Amino acid sequence: MNDLVVRRIGRLTSWARPVIEDAAVVITDGVIAWLGPDNALPADLRDAPELDAAGAAVLPGFVDCHTHAVWAGDRREDFLARVDGGDYRPGGIASTVVATAAAATEELTATTAARLSRMRSNGATTVEIKSGYGLTVDSELRLLDVAAAAAGQVDVSASTTYLGAHVVPVGRDRAEYVEEVIATLPAAAAHGAQWCDVFCDEGAFTVDEARRILSAAARHGLGTRMHAEQLANTGAARLAAELGCASADHLDFVTAGDAQAMAAAAVVGVLVPVASLYTRSGRWSHATVLREAGVSLAIATDCNPGTAHNESMPLAIQLGCLEMGLGVEESLRAATLGGAKALRRDDVGHLGIGAHGDLVVLASDHEVDVVAHLGAASVATTIHGGRT
Ligand code: NIG
Ligand code: FE
Repeated sequence: MNDLVVRRIGRLTSWARPVIEDAAVVITDGVIAWLGPDNALPADLRDAPELDAAGAAVLPGFVDCHTHAVWAGDRREDFLARVDGGDYRPGGIASTVVATAAAATEELTATTAARLSRMRSNGATTVEIKSGYGLTVDSELRLLDVAAAAAGQVDVSASTTYLGAHVVPVGRDRAEYVEEVIATLPAAAAHGAQWCDVFCDEGAFTVDEARRILSAAARHGLGTRMHAEQLANTGAARLAAELGCASADHLDFVTAGDAQAMAAAAVVGVLVPVASLYTRSGRWSHATVLREAGVSLAIATDCNPGTAHNESMPLAIQLGCLEMGLGVEESLRAATLGGAKALRRDDVGHLGIGAHGDLVVLASDHEVDVVAHLGAASVATTIHGGRT
């Protein structure tokens, strides 16, 4: 039963229409069937189960287009070293690979589902989930399966991404490993991956390696996206433009020229401000560089153990606004419509007729409070496909 009428919405942000005050939304078979002023709700649509928003503001469900939600173990040592003034190093990924390999599939699925559940409680209804803490053929495929199984348990829309090219595994020859990643692409697709991502950066993969992997991924029918310019400027964002990737993500070291290339190729720029906070990089100005070049922006959590241990889209939105300089509405759009664009989805991220019935009922009567009220739970109820 995926029918629901949400009534007495104080302010309805749909992006399909201007904000409607005192609004109602009807979801039929999991899809938006009607929205408008509550007092104009058609009589024949009043029969569905009702949720009284009691004057709260409502937004489209958040689209978290960049997460690494499947891992075991912890990175507290790395964290403490940074608190003591150390820098982030991608070498820490290896310790998560070891801990993840040691976790039984059932345990890993439960841990992942718990993370997705926290994401959902914080308003995410669509989540992208990367592999990348396996780094062997079988273990990467296991992580893709775990991601899909965990998403099934939590009732969010998920798409999975093969990130075999996260780092070169300890003790492996890099050229051989690149070939292995390429050879694994058909199996990754068979295990449900829709996307292929490469961490193209200092300490990870080079632009040439990324080009080889992502070109092969596209030939195998996978969509492409990249971790780009997170730790240094390496030419990754320009490669994303050259290849027509759906998104380039992180981008802390992006230049104006890179951003113009991305804009011209319609590559979405995915901001992950929690990673900038968590690694204490002090880098926030890239959002402005991207915006000035006309790049479409998305905001995501980057949920991962090393650089962004968090499951909160509201926290990412707050930092997008308060540290990166986006406006409140711009930040909210980036977390909904922007994420949808990064995942090439037009059926989520807005509440037009026919879109998914994915809504966030806020814990406030105004959407500005997602940013203006810090340290509070921003979300009262998350609705996915008409289910609360
Ligand atoms: O998005 N940059 C690459 N991957 C993750 C961090 C991985 C880790 O440190 O565990 C990120 O920041
Ligand atoms: Fe990431």
